[in-house]
This record gives sequence, structure tokens and C-alpha cells, in this order.
Amino acid sequence: MVLLSSDGSFPLERPGRLALYGAGARRTVKGGTGSGDVNSRHVVTVEEGLEKAGFTITTKAWLDAYDRIAEEHHRAFVAGIREQARQEGRPAIMVGMGAVELAPDYDLPLEGDGEAAVYVLARDSGEGSDRSSQAGDVRLTASEVRDITALAAAHERFLLVLNVGGVVDLGPVADVANILLLSQLGAVTGDAFADVLLGRSYPSGRLSTTWAAWEDYSTEGDFGDPDDTSYREGVYVGYRYFDSVGKVPIFPFGYGLGYTTFSIGAPTVSASGSEISQISEITVKTTVTNTGAAAGKEVVQVYVCVPAGRLDQPYQALAGFTKTGELAPGATQEVTVTVDLTDLASYDASRSATVLEAGDYVVRVGSSSRDTTVAAVVELAETAVVRQLHDVLGDPGFTDFRPVSPTLVEVPADVPRLAVAAADLRQEDTQEPVDLAEALGSVTDLPDDELAYVVLGQYADSADRQSVVGQASQALVGAAGQTTTRVEGLPSLVMADGPAGLRLAPQVGEDAQGRFPLGEALGGLFAELMDEESVVALGGEVDGGTQRVPERTFEQYATAIPIGTAVAQSWNPDLAESYGDLVGTEMDHFGAHLWLAPAFNLHRSILCGRNFEYLSEDPLLAGRVAAGITRGVQSHPGRGVTVKHFAFNNQETNRFNSNSRVSQRAARDLYLRSFEIVVRQAQPHAVMTSYNLVNGVHTSESAGLLEAILRQEWGFVGLVMTDWVVRAMTRTDLTYPRATAAATIKAGNELFMPGCEEDRQDVLAALHGQAESGVSLTRAELEKQAARVVRMAHRLGDVAPAPQA
Ligand code: BGC
Repeated sequence: MVLLSSDGSFPLERPGRLALYGAGARRTVKGGTGSGDVNSRHVVTVEEGLEKAGFTITTKAWLDAYDRIAEEHHRAFVAGIREQARQEGRPAIMVGMGAVELAPDYDLPLEGDGEAAVYVLARDSGEGSDRSSQAGDVRLTASEVRDITALAAAHERFLLVLNVGGVVDLGPVADVANILLLSQLGAVTGDAFADVLLGRSYPSGRLSTTWAAWEDYSTEGDFGDPDDTSYREGVYVGYRYFDSVGKVPIFPFGYGLGYTTFSIGAPTVSASGSEISQISEITVKTTVTNTGAAAGKEVVQVYVCVPAGRLDQPYQALAGFTKTGELAPGATQEVTVTVDLTDLASYDASRSATVLEAGDYVVRVGSSSRDTTVAAVVELAETAVVRQLHDVLGDPGFTDFRPVSPTLVEVPADVPRLAVAAADLRQEDTQEPVDLAEALGSVTDLPDDELAYVVLGQYADSADRQSVVGQASQALVGAAGQTTTRVEGLPSLVMADGPAGLRLAPQVGEDAQGRFPLGEALGGLFAELMDEESVVALGGEVDGGTQRVPERTFEQYATAIPIGTAVAQSWNPDLAESYGDLVGTEMDHFGAHLWLAPAFNLHRSILCGRNFEYLSEDPLLAGRVAAGITRGVQSHPGRGVTVKHFAFNNQETNRFNSNSRVSQRAARDLYLRSFEIVVRQAQPHAVMTSYNLVNGVHTSESAGLLEAILRQEWGFVGLVMTDWVVRAMTRTDLTYPRATAAATIKAGNELFMPGCEEDRQDVLAALHGQAESGVSLTRAELEKQAARVVRMAHRLGDVAPAPQA
């Protein structure tokens, strides 16, 4: 949680009478909707958590009345989606997946009494649709502003709580004295809130994205365009934009308070000093002292102003951070932050390389992006070419935005200076080739017909059926998919969704033919919209499961952990690792080999419907947190993560076929960097490509992205799979068609998911030069890609412990 404003009224000393209002009080949102929506047995709402902690809620009548309004509003919302689907002749799920239900207006008397009042504002969004700037989504409704303002005036102790997955425009209520970003914390959201309200715990999160008034966000780039979305804003995303154009956000990147205060001592900066230091690293050492009366944790953040030269540069970039342990009042901790200067290198298109240009690098240390002091200046006498790269991502067809009069970086005269040599910043990528000999040996004897199965997910036999998207696994019911079971001796890898835990079907039936879901693995709006047409559109069978009479039934509940953004707000890769460990434990239990998470496309716009699953607007923070999650999961033998969605999947509008037009500079400096950090630091076992295209090529069909960048440059040795492509995604009225199995497999994406017979026929046709798409595939190419699948199937499948019964 991030404490955004505080006048010291909280925490409360003891539970007592409390006036509780707002949509999130009883209808608490544990996480967003879509494939990341985890089926936990129970969710502790804010109301329930407070009552369990001993509070008496004095506003039951308000909460009951609000429930009736919200239910009526929801019925009308679902009916509206159905009607729109009918008019457009499309399945309801395709119209309404992830649609944001705007918060209703209402007028209910604020009659509760108590020692304090709490208003819990809630928002929900999900996969399949983007958010909007309207009141009830990004903007607050008139009813919300009216009640929050009235409660703040009427109660001496009033807390505005934000049960949201992304940014809301707090402009109209920004002067409320106490605001807590509760976020969406999974199954125990209400318990965690009660702990913090009572000071049994404390908020120590920091924002992972800039919170500003809606009209202050950049409008330089496109967002939500159906076919082509131009990332014209270039590298000026999030705080890089706000800082460079001199706009003041409401709450800046990296910001957050606690129940105490801290002072950060005078930092010292050296070019070496830590044990792990390489020559390209600098080490910042400082102390943090708890100067208040309660326990807490501080995050020491280091930003660097990179000098503009031939390349323009954002005012500053996050270069490193370290969170303290818990500090008691008066306690001091020494903190070391290591900064790898090569993380700050920028892509120079004229050299197809990342460079650090000659000049003064100003190192700033502080507690948020807007609260830093200059600690040192690092001098680089000559421009350093850091990494020679492949020029493979194409051209977006425009020149990136750059601010007309960017905020000037002042280089103070009286701070310590240290010099770094350009030669020491050079990084060579010499990757060892992956040994596929053994895996190749096991596929060379397979006839074409069978070999093609290996590069597709497991699917039902019939030619005209596909496995239903999002729950295609036959081995683990409700898991999103698995690799083929058709090759003898080859383990089948089971894949279950995330990122907020493990998504499985909660109710399972079993008969002589095996296990099957009783009901939907996806809940909420998704389940409500699943009429027959929608089931078929997602590749399912209308009577699938429903006619089967189970001989036995059982339940599978997993733990809903905090949403990705909340995990990132911890600024604590070790905590992220412990979430990964928890998921790994449940993967051991249920027998899932690959988790389809973490997801960390950057928060390019606050409107992206899946931002709640993603981590941050900053690639370094996103990359380090995702690396922590990866380490946690992969500490379990035979279990792996699948980092997604690689890459440039920053909007949900027409996500299957939208073309992200992005410069190579922005691509390298921002959107690919977070993936690069995870691959280099934690070697995830799998990567999932995104649905969208980049500069006209589907990411899954881009050999440049998958072979040149991911494998050759970064040294990725795992498995690459597609996001879940099903036939319903083939629309003829769009500029760009869907990706095809043959083309993705040729490009170095060796696993086409969830797979169907039509996809296999496409692969076989390509082998004979007869694919409709014109793609041709040699037997050697197919063998190589199949061998990659086989290698990972053995690597994970042979060592993973058997699931518990
Ligand atoms: C989502 C992925 C998810 C997959 C399997 C897709 O629609 O974009 O994030 O992992 O479905 O459920």
C-alpha cells in the first residue's frame, strides 16, 4: 500500500465505531478481470476485515442501499453489452471482455457516526478492453467527489482509500488530508487494510507510476487506435515526460509516505566498492534514519540525469534503488545502491548500438523522483559504445517527439566528481549456443505428421474444434494449456495463468474419460457473458462438460496474491521473490510446469486495461521486480515462469491485430529493456510473445525480435510460445490479419498456443510450400523448433515432482 497523504490522524489506536462508505467497502476488488483473475475460495472485503478486527460499522444501511444501486447498475450494464453484441452481430464475449463498468452515480445520506470515517473508492478493469477518461473510471463521479469532500469536512479523522488497479484523477480531492492507495491485494485485501488502519502494520509502498490530473498526461502519441498506434512520444513516458516538460504531477513516481519519517544521510559515490562491483558500476552509500515515532521502511532511490548530446535525453532516469529493512524509531541503517551505468545507455540508430555519450552524469539520491539531492557527477570524457545491436525492428514512419524547451539539468560545481573510462563501459554479447543435439535426436525419426504436433499446444482430435482459450489444458482443469501429449516419452508441460496467483477451474468433475470443469474457470463478467455463441467464438464446445455426469467432484482453489502493480509498489524484489515462491509451491501442488506470468508491459498510458497486471512505467523497476518473481518461482525444480507479453502490448483495443509503431530508440530504451533485465538477471524458462505487431510484423513472427534480440543478444535459452491465438481472432475487416502457425514457427517462436488441427495443417502445408500465407518451412527448420520444445519438456517435465492428489 502507498500512503499518499497524511496529517497524522492514522493509524487508529484501537478498533471502535467506524463510518464506512464507498463501493470498495463491501464490493472490494481483489484484482482485475480476465485471464489473470484467480479463483480463490474467499475474498476478505474491507468491511469484513474491519469487523474481524473488532470495528463496529455504523453505516450498514448505506452499504445495503449502495449494494442495491450497484446491482441494478450492473444488470443494465450486462444487458447493454448483450444488446450491442446483438446489433453488431458479434458474440457478447468479444464485445464485453474486460469492459469497464463505470461507477454509478447515487445519492445516499451520510449518516454514520464513529471515531473516524473511511471512504473506499473502487475501480475495476480487465483484459480485452481499455479504460476511459470518463467519470466513473479515470475521473471521479460527481457523487464520489461530493461524498469524499463532505466526509473530509465533517470528520476530524477521515481516510480516503483507493481500491484501484490503476491511476484515477485525484484532482478534485487532492487536498484530502489522508489518502491511502490500498490497491488490490488479492484474497486478504480487507485483513491487510485492517492491520494498516490499526497500525499493526504500516504502508511502505512507493508509486510505480506517476499519478497526475488526466489532462496533464502526454498526448503526443496515439492510444487505442484500431489498426496503427504510433508511439510518437518516444522515450518521454511517465515521469520521463513530466520531469522533462516541467509539469507537476499530483503524486510523483517513487513517492509514498509511512507512519513515520526518515532522513537520508549525505551519500558517498564511488566507482567501485561493493563486492559485486564491476567497472561499469558505481556504488552509492548512505544512511537512513527513522526520525519519527513509529516503525517503517524507506526506499532509497538513485536517479541519473544523462547528458544530452547528439541524442536528446529525458531529465532523469531511475538507475537503482534499495529498500531498508524495518527501522524502529531512532534506528539507522546503512544502505548501498549499486548503479550499472550501462543500464542508462540509449539506442543510437546511426550506429545500431547503445551508447553513453560523453558528458556529466548527475547522480541524484532521494526518496522519490521529485525529492532528490545531487550526490555526485560522473564524468565520461569520450562517448562509449556499450552494445552493438541488430537493426531489426523496422521503422515506425515518424520522428519521435522531443520537448521544445526541456527542463535544464543543472550541474552543481561543488559536488564530488569521479571519472569513468569509455572503454570500461563496453559490453560484449557472446552467447554460448544452446545444445539441441539430444533433443534433435529424438525428433528426427518422427514423420512430418507427428512432428507438427510438437510445435502446437495439445488440442482435441476433431478437425473443427479448438481447445477453449484460457482453459485448454486437459491434465490440469482450468489451466490455460499444455504441450502435446501425442509423442510417446515426451512429458507434456502444463501451463496455468497468472499473474495474481494460479488460475485454475475451482470446481472439477471426473468421469471415466477424465476430468472436466464444472462451470467457468474465468469468473465475473467473463462468465456472465459466456453464452453459446461466445463459447464457440473462443473455440469451445457448447455442450463441452455440461452433459457429463461426474462420478466424483472436487475443488481447486489457489491463493490470489496482490496484482502486479501492487507488487511493484513494494519496490522490493525480495518480497516479489517470496510471492514467486508461494506460486511455485502451488504449482508443485497442482502440477503446473509453467506459470503464464509475470506480465510487465510498461504503463505507457494510464488507460491500458491490463495495467493492473503490469508493474510500472519504468523499465528498471519493472525488470527488477519481475526478476524477483522469476527467481521465486524457478527456485522450485521443474517450475518456470513465462514472461509476457513480449512486446509492445500496451493497449487492449484491437489487441490481436493492432500494430505498435515504435522507434528503435524507444523500443530499446524502454519497452524491451524490462524484458532484457529479466532475461539477463534471472533467465526465465519461457517467454510469451504478444498478439500485436511491431512496425508491421507480428511479434510472434519477428525473427529479429526472437532470434536476433532475445536469443543472440540477451542469451535467452528457454522456450518461446505465442499468446493464445484462436480462430475467432481472424477478422476480415482489419488491416492486419492474425499471426499464423507456420510463420511464427519459422520466425523462432517454437510453440503455437493453444493450437488446433487447422494450425497443424498450416504447418504441414508450409512444409510442402503450399501454405495460404506463402510461408515455407523446411524440415530442418521444423526439427530445430520442435527440438527446442522437446528440450524444455524434458528440462521441466523430467524433474518436477508429481502433483499432490
Ligand atoms: C492472454 C494471456 C493469457 C492467455 C491464456 C490470453 O488471452 O492475453 O495473458 O496468458 O490468454 O489464458
